[in-house]
Amino acid sequence: MNKSISNVSVLITAGGKGTRLWPVSTMARPKQFCALTGDKTMLQEAYERAASLVAAGNIYIGVSANQKVLVREQIPSIKDDHIIVEPEGRDTAPAIAFATAYIKTLSGDGKQAMIVFAADQMFRDDEIFRDAIDQAISAANGGQHLVSVGVVPTEPNTQYGYMRCGEKSSFGKDAFFGEEYIEKPNLETAKRLVADGSFIWNTNIFVWRIDVFLDAFRYYRPNDYAGVEKISTFLPAIDEAVLAELYSQLTKLSIDYAVMEKVTLGDPFRHVFVKGHFGWADIGNFDALADYLPSDSSGNKVRGAIEASNVRSCILVCENPYALEVADLTDKIVVASGGNVLVVPRGEAASIKQILASPLNTNLTGESERFELSEFDEQGNRATTFVRLMNVKNCDFSGDAKNIICAGNVSNLKVRVAGKHVSVQPRTGAVPAKGAGVTRMGSGTFRVLVREDYEDMSETAAHAVVEDIKAAIAKRGEAVIVLSAGGTPEGLCKLLRTRYKDALDWKKVVLFQMDDYKGLPTSHPQSLSFFLINMAVKPLGIGQAYFLNNEKGELAYDLKAYDRLVEDHGGIDVIVHGIGENGHLGFNEPGTPFDSATRIVDLAESTVKANSRFFAKVEDVPTQGVTMGFKRLRAVRKTYILASGPKKADAIQRMVLGPVDESMPASIMRRHPDTVVIVDRGACGWIGAV
Ligand code: GLP
Repeated sequence: MNKSISNVSVLITAGGKGTRLWPVSTMARPKQFCALTGDKTMLQEAYERAASLVAAGNIYIGVSANQKVLVREQIPSIKDDHIIVEPEGRDTAPAIAFATAYIKTLSGDGKQAMIVFAADQMFRDDEIFRDAIDQAISAANGGQHLVSVGVVPTEPNTQYGYMRCGEKSSFGKDAFFGEEYIEKPNLETAKRLVADGSFIWNTNIFVWRIDVFLDAFRYYRPNDYAGVEKISTFLPAIDEAVLAELYSQLTKLSIDYAVMEKVTLGDPFRHVFVKGHFGWADIGNFDALADYLPSDSSGNKVRGAIEASNVRSCILVCENPYALEVADLTDKIVVASGGNVLVVPRGEAASIKQILASPLNTNLTGESERFELSEFDEQGNRATTFVRLMNVKNCDFSGDAKNIICAGNVSNLKVRVAGKHVSVQPRTGAVPAKGAGVTRMGSGTFRVLVREDYEDMSETAAHAVVEDIKAAIAKRGEAVIVLSAGGTPEGLCKLLRTRYKDALDWKKVVLFQMDDYKGLPTSHPQSLSFFLINMAVKPLGIGQAYFLNNEKGELAYDLKAYDRLVEDHGGIDVIVHGIGENGHLGFNEPGTPFDSATRIVDLAESTVKANSRFFAKVEDVPTQGVTMGFKRLRAVRKTYILASGPKKADAIQRMVLGPVDESMPASIMRRHPDTVVIVDRGACGWIGAV
């Protein structure tokens, strides 16, 4: 360890998501917790890098709450109070400011220098890196300096920021006073900056004295500084809820925008840029990772158990326990990891986000099944097709060079791309029996759409439902709809009231209630009818609405007569379901026969518990409900099932991937001719993506 930096701290930021490296990097294990090139994970490498600079007691790791366990697993020696947990992702400015305040409190030294770097970056030459850091520390200790350690650009990369080195400083041979900070330029500008020769890439490696950084944060972001100062008064043992509340008020902003870019001549602070040559890269996607993988004799970049014949210029990554067989392929990225497979043309690895939002085809099984993959754009040109598959066994897909295939929970999948093929199979373990009862479930009639968050989910659903209602009105003169109540459809109802109020003639809509608690009058604020009346029926001016209970809390109809009313209106056109944590639809609890009628039911204990959040206490939740049965729900022409958040992830996984079984009521919709499941990322952790 270099003596001059023995009292310096290192903050390794490890909170990122690494979306574009799916399926190696997943929501459960983002890239910094993965080994991408050697045996060690990026975090382990980053920790070793830090330990070569400072004492282990001075190393801190900043992560999000669900990643703490990964840090413990990968760096078992780290002390618990050296893992700094950000309560939520609010970009790098709040994360670094909070961590800096924390380190100041814990170390009791507000004047020491600290080094900040991210765990998910590659370094080729740690020796040169240490030399650059030495110079940066001298600069940090030499004044009110915010020091960035950058690297000499090797290409006009538009994914990085650029920094102009000005006058040489006395802090080291590569240390310059900084002149300009340019965030991700376009290609033309990037070319000019590289040609200019005085620019280096912004690597987000920073060195500063703790007090200097906090002063600068106060100077450029006074309100956020006040928030961090408030947090400091509780440190180091701050209550989680208090921290979450205060942290949520900090502006979501990167450190570049919040502080570094703001520094101008005449300010009390000055940039120093250290020009490094340590072979640095931010491995954002597989195209970028390729530079760090060994090449085979055909120019492929490979990692893992791979058999390739007549394969050129591909990136092939396969992780245990899979073996990858690739034949007759050029310019593709093929990745198999954790039971998931990605096949994508080289150069398109950055499109993963789009891929993950495309429809998911599930449960395709069968030796003799072949699936053609093609899609055409408005001009009739073959468009890039994103195909997402889940639970695929013994299938054979063919498409052309534009297909991007993304598959999960795969065994023995053959993907032919313009006559070429990729086959992925477990290296050990049984391959499913050949030809055993060829089934093809799902087959495009049961689709899963994954959306970014609750708002996105609601938007997709609202748009689709409105289109279906319009189509039904056009066809039949009226549309019969069923909306479930509860937390899930609130966003959708809000959009119907705001964006879609005038999109159609709501007087031509007939609403039937699917389910309610038994005994709750329509005026009871916790009754599901109260929800429907106030969220949709009244504000939209829906023409007719039928509820199961009346205003006294008695059943409004004989239930057979209720069913007949539905029939009289020509059946249900569209239904929007939420889903219970136990997989119920309506109040059809686990164990409900799939041919059940509209009836009174006992609520499962889990339902009473889950729904108690809407009541003052759990004892207030009715123990019985009244609900349409599966006979009716299966006859609906178009079904949507919405789910948001991790509490629903298990139910969604079982509904989509598990057996069609009465213990998982919603699974029956896999046999329905037209069901679309719309979930947000929180509710689909199982897909292994963000
Ligand atoms: C409730 C209702 C269902 C609803 C589900 C999910 O008990 N009976 O119709 O879809 O449970 O509710 P939430 O969206 O509030 O999670």
